[in-house]
Amino acid sequence: MIPEITLDMVRVTEAAALMSSIYLGRGDKEIVDQSAVDAMRGILDLIEMKGTVVIGEGEKDNAPMLYPGEKVGKWQDGDPEVLIAVDPIDGTRLVAGGRPNALSVIAATEGGKIAPLPTYYVEKLAVGKTLAGHLDIEATPRENLKIAAALLGVKVSELTVTILDRERNRELIEAVRMVGARIRLIDDGDIAAALSAALPESGTDIYMGIGGSPEAVLAAAALTCLGGEIQARCWPRDNDERESIEKSGFDVHKTYMTEDLIGGDEIVFSATGVTDGSFLKGVRFHQNQAVTDSIVMRSSTRTVRRIMAYHDLELKTVTTKTEGEKKLINSANWF
Ligand code: FBP
Repeated sequence: MIPEITLDMVRVTEAAALMSSIYLGRGDKEIVDQSAVDAMRGILDLIEMKGTVVIGEGEKDNAPMLYPGEKVGKWQDGDPEVLIAVDPIDGTRLVAGGRPNALSVIAATEGGKIAPLPTYYVEKLAVGKTLAGHLDIEATPRENLKIAAALLGVKVSELTVTILDRERNRELIEAVRMVGARIRLIDDGDIAAALSAALPESGTDIYMGIGGSPEAVLAAAALTCLGGEIQARCWPRDNDERESIEKSGFDVHKTYMTEDLIGGDEIVFSATGVTDGSFLKGVRFHQNQAVTDSIVMRSSTRTVRRIMAYHDLELKTVTTKTEGEKKLINSANWF
């Protein structure tokens, strides 16, 4: 049943990317996020499914939309039951700052599960097909990089490791430097980084380091469809976080594998570029058109589609939820 909603999922991430990209570089993170959430929520309700959000925008009380547990879709008799994970914008700061690498992302699974990881941090190791099953997040970077180089048939000095540029990743960055691999540091947006590891043309061989936990689940969806792998270990910052993770039923000592994060008979993943990245271009506006680049994939066949869409701004509307109305993308009342 879910293959039928594959294109719908692209429409969801396209809408979020289009609406949020209007605020590119304006320095306002909140409006970037809100416009993406409104657009995503509006389009989700047009889809013939019984959808339940598992990974969304934080907790119910703090998020008016797309909170975990929220029902989305038409919910008609006979519609498929689908679990949903979203990150309306991975890299809100990037969009607000007019910088590259931001995506709008959704994953859906039928007949499966999505791990409701608490919104803290996890340590991640993500790789593509060739390296899947061969590295171990508990091993040292030296051990992992040696194995990776051998399997990819390159020297360690030719490997590219992408890492989120944060103080908490300093030790890892130093360790990778010592081994002699190339490092690509990113400011934000580690779903794109994890996915890149499974897309050879992106130039990343491995994504490593500590980043957000919801992002690990969304990356797991994409990596399942690409035959890659992500390993994740909770990284509580203090005792309160440790307790809260354990109370939610997760084990701070366990390594969660891709299939622990998301599973199902069919997983669909869609991402649309908001700003230019290593495998998707951002939204471009010119001559009354907006152009979007998306990647959409599903797990049962591992078909990966790239969709470039031309949106005629004289006609293009996006149904937004907060406003309860359709918005013409080129209207003057964006601000
Ligand atoms: P949002 O744009 O959704 O806030 O996330 C951006 C991001 O860079 C993620 O890709 C990453 O996992 C997380 O933030 C890292 O968190 P922090 O910025 O707190 O280090």
